[in-house]
Amino acid sequence: MSMTMPEVTMLGCTKDALDTPVLCVDLAVMESNIESVAEACRSHGVAWRPHAKGHKVPAIAKCQLAAGAIGITCAKLGEAEVMAAAGIEDILIANMIVGPLKLARLVELRRVADPIVCVDHVDQVAPLAEAMNQAGLSVRALIEVDIGLRRVGVLPGQAALTLAKQIEDRPGIELAGVMGYEGHLLTVPDLHEKSSAIRVSLLQLTDTAELLRRAGFACEIVSCGGTGSYVYAIQQPGITEIQAGGAIFMDAYYRNRCKVPDLQYAMTVLATVVSRPAADRAIIDAGRKTLNPELAMPLVAGYDDARVVSLSAEHGALELGPQSRGLRVGDRVELVPGYSDLTTVLHDEMHGFRDGRLEVVWPIEARGKLR
Ligand SMILES: Cc1ncc(COP(=O)(O)O)c(C=O)c1O
Repeated sequence: MSMTMPEVTMLGCTKDALDTPVLCVDLAVMESNIESVAEACRSHGVAWRPHAKGHKVPAIAKCQLAAGAIGITCAKLGEAEVMAAAGIEDILIANMIVGPLKLARLVELRRVADPIVCVDHVDQVAPLAEAMNQAGLSVRALIEVDIGLRRVGVLPGQAALTLAKQIEDRPGIELAGVMGYEGHLLTVPDLHEKSSAIRVSLLQLTDTAELLRRAGFACEIVSCGGTGSYVYAIQQPGITEIQAGGAIFMDAYYRNRCKVPDLQYAMTVLATVVSRPAADRAIIDAGRKTLNPELAMPLVAGYDDARVVSLSAEHGALELGPQSRGLRVGDRVELVPGYSDLTTVLHDEMHGFRDGRLEVVWPIEARGKLR
């Protein structure tokens, strides 16, 4: 006989009715962040193709599309499959699709959606084109350009042109443009330096797009930009679309290390104080298996003088100042994630609240879709 009791989650309940730790989203704040990014892109004449890797929830992707996003970005083929199954068609997979198993799945995905994939080497291009062509299909591809991140990507300029020529006239693949990610510049502390470094980095992308166009390639899409850089990327002439995604939740990393202005914290983890071993220390039931501290420590919402000082697997230690020392065993605290992207993947569900009442529970459907 199973000893586990099913958790009864009642829509309309307040946070007090939920057991902890639990991942929560303030829906009004998330919607306002979505509208802010959509409007920032719109007002600069740039399209928005938000990265869905940070939420992995088709319903949230649909909110972004309803707010004007032209499509979405995914990190993995498996994420794209989940989004396509929910009816989303225009999906950039910002990654290389390598190997016969994945190519077979990409062919199936292409039957129901219109994905775009990235390439930076002819050794990806040839099997990709062949798999598509054999199925009587064609897939859009972007040449990924290394604009300084030193991850994937051909070098800007001539190397990209050489790859474009290797793609040209190959049935099964259609060159749709270029993409790059200025992820190495998100935490440049001085904002003037950050702005000009991003401009120089993105110039390599837009110049490459121009080179391709002069050589006769259409190059309609010039895609870049994350939450930590979109305010600069939208200003760059020649960029056609922005991938910023995690902006809809905001977090300590984006706010304090990337210095992203304006957007509000929408995501929290609700936790319970389980121990008060010292006057200035509270222990909560949320550790590294609930919150990811890699890029920044979580923040304690509502208590200016409490801070998270350490996280072990299942415990979090808070250092308390005079105003927060009244916290007692059993009290609830809300933590703003250090990095929302690496926090959502630790949870099965996201609980959406509006005006303090539970409105929706979203399964994090693309969680674990790592292949
Ligand atoms: C290709 C690519 N685009 C954009 C982003 C930015 O994502 P976000 O806006 O969620 O920080 C990332 C983050 O890792 C990325 O790898």
